[in-house]
Amino acid sequence: MTKDLSRREVLGAAATVAAATTLGTSAAVAAGRGQAPAVMSSYKPLVVGANNGHRLKNEDGETGVQIAYRMITAGEDVLDATIACNNLPEISEEDSSVGYGGLPDANGDVTLDACCMHGPLKRAGGVSYIQGVRTPSWVAKDVMMKTNHHLLSGQGATDFARANGHKIEGDLNSAHSFNRYLEWKKRVEEEGDNRTFAELDIDFIENKGFEVAYQMAKEGLIDIDHIHGTINTNAINHKGEICGNTTTSGRSFKVPGRVGDSPILGAGLYVDNDIGAAGSTGLGEMNLYHLCSFLIVEKMRDGMHPKDAGMFALTRVRDFCMGNPRYMNDEGEIAFNLQFYVLDKRSRYAGVAMRGGEGRFFAVCDDNGPRHELMDAIYIDS
Ligand code: GLY
Repeated sequence: MTKDLSRREVLGAAATVAAATTLGTSAAVAAGRGQAPAVMSSYKPLVVGANNGHRLKNEDGETGVQIAYRMITAGEDVLDATIACNNLPEISEEDSSVGYGGLPDANGDVTLDACCMHGPLKRAGGVSYIQGVRTPSWVAKDVMMKTNHHLLSGQGATDFARANGHKIEGDLNSAHSFNRYLEWKKRVEEEGDNRTFAELDIDFIENKGFEVAYQMAKEGLIDIDHIHGTINTNAINHKGEICGNTTTSGRSFKVPGRVGDSPILGAGLYVDNDIGAAGSTGLGEMNLYHLCSFLIVEKMRDGMHPKDAGMFALTRVRDFCMGNPRYMNDEGEIAFNLQFYVLDKRSRYAGVAMRGGEGRFFAVCDDNGPRHELMDAIYIDS
């Protein structure tokens, strides 16, 4: 700073730096160019998330993103709104990817993971490998609000839920999810020369089980999106408050004890109230290697549009997996899916996927109403 700057100029420059720090690099660049930084007295309310946020309806005919949008525009807490969106598939047996009726693990047990993050409060909470609670998203919020911890797991998480008034049930399988589990188990045992599960090693169950699950999806017995099914929902209100929630039953027929990306801060979800939010669905392991939700928010901090930031993360994952036959198809492409749902402080948004194409949607609700929009993708399936 030169000596001949007046006090007024010094204060002005300091204010610009402070505003830039708050608003992120794109605003800083704008301020540096002499443009007015994007200080907004009112932000555009918006809800963005996984496609199952716009499928099921409540008794008033509202889908999840519609409920969340109604709540945030009525002044309710943004995190509560995202959780209310995710509750629809959590409590419904029609969605076999989360909560009640989620496809179980290789032992037939439904085990759930969830994570939430409250931008204005700068707090987060999560549960993993929890059993018996249909709505782990609310338990994640209780972890956030009532403890100094971020993540409670297994029996401890279930005990915490019980102690905090959540209903605990013996078994979260629906007739549908248990029926599909029995079919999957029968097929894996047949593939193993009719040895029982007790006689098969876990590696065989994991590898063959994955193939069997995909075959069942091809036959229409399970929803392809529910193999790694999950729901993530993020929202911003007119005050610019940003929150997000991710909840899942994890990979279907997983090795017992397996936890994926959903409850892990920075992987299944990340929120920075000054920048934006990102959350995931899909093959959690490949997200965990790169903490993509955090990566996406950091790229938006550097000025990227949500779509570019999401595609940057997917490209990182693609390059990491390229050449590993476990993750490739016969065309030399990445075979698995991984999706991100992203919004920024300017209410720009994106849904991006490793594999997209016809019917591959994400859910949005803003002043144009609730809807599905097509995902941007690295590979487009015909
Ligand atoms: N993305 C959910 C999971 O892999 O568990």
